[in-house]
Amino acid sequence: MDQIVIRGGQRLKGRIPISGAKNAALTLLPCALLTDEPLTLRNLPRLADVDGFGHLLNQLGCSTTIEGSRPEDFGRVMTARTTTLTSTVAPYDIVRKMRASILVLGPLLARAGEATVSLPGGCAIGNRPIDLHLKALEAFGAEIELASGYVKASAPGGGRLPGGKFTFPVVSVGATENALMAAVLAKGICVLENAAREPEIVDLCNCLVAMGAHIDGIGTETLTIEGVDRLHGATYRVMADRIEAGSYACAAVITEGDVELVGAKASEMEATLASLREAGATVEETKGGIRVAMTGRAEPVTLSTAPYPGFATDMQAQFMAMATLGKGASLFTETIFENRYMHVPELARMGCDIDVRGRSAVVRGVDHLVGAPVMATDLRASMSLIIAGLAAQGTTEVNRVYHLDRGYERLEEKLQAVGADIERISAG
Ligand code: UD1
Repeated sequence: MDQIVIRGGQRLKGRIPISGAKNAALTLLPCALLTDEPLTLRNLPRLADVDGFGHLLNQLGCSTTIEGSRPEDFGRVMTARTTTLTSTVAPYDIVRKMRASILVLGPLLARAGEATVSLPGGCAIGNRPIDLHLKALEAFGAEIELASGYVKASAPGGGRLPGGKFTFPVVSVGATENALMAAVLAKGICVLENAAREPEIVDLCNCLVAMGAHIDGIGTETLTIEGVDRLHGATYRVMADRIEAGSYACAAVITEGDVELVGAKASEMEATLASLREAGATVEETKGGIRVAMTGRAEPVTLSTAPYPGFATDMQAQFMAMATLGKGASLFTETIFENRYMHVPELARMGCDIDVRGRSAVVRGVDHLVGAPVMATDLRASMSLIIAGLAAQGTTEVNRVYHLDRGYERLEEKLQAVGADIERISAG
């Protein structure tokens, strides 16, 4: 298996191009199931999860063509067209590898009046149930059956969903996305209350509107969707990856660097930027993106993850890595996922001082980190090890690189370009 090897201690300086957002791409791709016309997505990141999703779409009868597949191209363009659905089943083998596959449930149900999708099962950052996805669809009139590890959803008479109203008891990004994609072709009106407001949800809504959907309240916690008879094709540009941008910002701070995150949008990551400022970083909007610069050690931060516009759980591990070399004690509280401190034991191998108590963690800044062989069990945890490695003395070997390949486009290339001593060692 590939490894990423970092010799720490280089200050990052220069421009880092920010790719299209993974989490937006994974909810925009299934929109191609909603129409028989082509959906063209621009600025798609080159990531294992995006390729995996394309493969799932192919299995359902959607043809996909990709431009910009030369290794030097950032931002690929994919045209996906589902002239006819050939299957309404997302099998276990695919869903188990890529949790986001559950996002075909809503669009398949909307287009075909039925869908059968494997239950995703547990994952490294907690149980991650899908009960809210199902309850929202039920509220819109779907019948839901669970059998042999699969969920089967159907609309009355195999037709269109009647519509209805659902109030989320807790905010869920994925369930809001699935419900939205199911609602756009309903017969009646669907209302979602306490819906997620993440920028990726806004991106999804804007794409659906470009395809002819009627959605009111975009960017707010109440979404009202008036079903239409059919959707048409569209060309849509995937938003910039705010989590990738935030990750490189943490890398800049811990190496006392100065980087411009080209293409990043400050308005979509205010909470991250506020915490970077709390750490003492200079953060300013530039013509092309955001500049993050740091001199000296980071000030301690106090942060608690929360649904957008709160501090993103997907940024928690990277900030924790950054805080390990901070001036004092930082306090973290994880409120979204119950098992999201899996990076802590690995960071400890590099000399960090972190004390986890339930959902909280206290990080006491240490004088220096020492490189070590490490590995992580999820994407953002892996990135926290890269960030720590960039500032550690000596060599850090990050294993299980496939996690990073799921979410960071050409990570080592982008970091090399700003001065990091980092390379991928291929297993052959
Ligand atoms: C998405 C993101 C993920 C991010 C997360 C929270 C994608 C592909 N993934 O994941 O990177 O970390 O949002 O910002 O976009 N919950 C339920 N029942 C459900 C669904 C969720 O109880 O049916 C709970 C979850 O266990 C969790 C909370 O709701 O505690 C939020 O999860 P959710 O927003 O749904 O996360 P995902 O959409 O899976």
